[in-house]
Amino acid sequence: MPRKLIIDTDPGVDDAFAISLAALSEDVDLLGVTTVFGNVPLENTTRNALRVLQLCGRADVPVAAGAHRPLVHPQIARAGHVHGMDGLSGRSAALPEPERELEPGGAVGLLVSLLEAADEPVTITPIGPMTNIALLLAAHPHVKPKIDRIVLMGGGVDRGNSTAAAEFNIWSDPEAARRVLVEEDVPCVMVPLDLTYRCAVDTAWLGKLASTGPIGAALEALTPDYLASYRRALGWDGIVLHDAVAVAEAISPGILRTESYPIEVDTTFGPGRGATLVDRRLPGMRGEGEGATAQGAVQVAVDTDVNGLGEFVLGRLTRPTAAAS
Ligand code: RIB
Ligand code: CA
Repeated sequence: MPRKLIIDTDPGVDDAFAISLAALSEDVDLLGVTTVFGNVPLENTTRNALRVLQLCGRADVPVAAGAHRPLVHPQIARAGHVHGMDGLSGRSAALPEPERELEPGGAVGLLVSLLEAADEPVTITPIGPMTNIALLLAAHPHVKPKIDRIVLMGGGVDRGNSTAAAEFNIWSDPEAARRVLVEEDVPCVMVPLDLTYRCAVDTAWLGKLASTGPIGAALEALTPDYLASYRRALGWDGIVLHDAVAVAEAISPGILRTESYPIEVDTTFGPGRGATLVDRRLPGMRGEGEGATAQGAVQVAVDTDVNGLGEFVLGRLTRPTAAAS
C-alpha cells in the first residue's frame, strides 16, 4: 500500500530535491504539498513548489500556501544567499509553468481536509519552519489520530547553521517548533543538521543525476548558487540535500537510525534562541521536570548508511516516470 505523505516546505533547492523524491516514488501517495515562508518569501516558495511538481509530471498533487511569517516574533532573515533570491539559484523561471492553481483554503485548510479524508495514518514531513504544523495542531487537534509521524528536517544536536546554536528551520520560528516538538503528543522524528551534513553529495553525484533525463537535468540546473554556498561551507565541491534526508526517512522508515531523547527548544532571546536541546543525560540523571519534556521524547536521527542513502535518493530521482511537463 503506498505510504501516504504530506510535505510542508519552503523551496529552496534541497526542498526541490525532496519534493521530487516523493513525487517520483511509486510507493508514495503524495497527498499534498503545503508551503511556508523560509528560504525565500512565501510567494517564491509557493511558486517554486508548484513548478517542481509540474516538472515531475505531478500536477495532480494539490498545493496550498501557508504562513508568510512566524507564529509570534518576526524573523526577517531569509536564505537567498544560499538558495538564490528566487529560491532556486535564479532558475525558477526555467521550470515549467504550473497547470494547477493553488487550493483556495490555505495550508492549514488543505492539511485538515487531507487528514480527515485519509483512510489510513499520514506522515507529515515539515522541511521548513514549522509554523503551519503548529497552527494545524493548535486549531484542529481532532486530526492528530490521523497523523502517523511527523518527520521533520530541523534542529541540531551539537551545532547550528543560522547561529552557533540554531538550525535555520527552527531558528525561523522557535515558538512553532516548541509547540510541535515539546508541547504536542504526536510522534516526531527530528532529522538534524549533524546527520544531514554527513549526507552531502558531490558533483559526480549531480553529474549522474543530470545524465538520467530531463527531470534530473532540470534539478541539477537548480543547484549553482546552492553549490557555490556549500563549496564555501564544506571546503569541497558538494551540496547538502538536508530535506531529502528527512523525506527518505518518511518514505522508507528505518533508513535512518534514530535514538529517543527528551527535547527542549530555546525560545528565549539569548544567544541560544532556536537551539534544540537534545537531553542526552543518562535517564537516571533526568530529574522530574529537568529536561523532561511535557510530552514524551522525540526520535532523533543519528546515523545512516551515507552511501546507501545517496544511492537511494539518486535511484528514486531517476526512475522512469511521466514525461516532464
Ligand atoms: O537548515 C537547513 C534547512 O533550512 C533546510 O530545510 C533548508 O531548505 C532550509 O530550509
Ligand atoms: Ca527547507
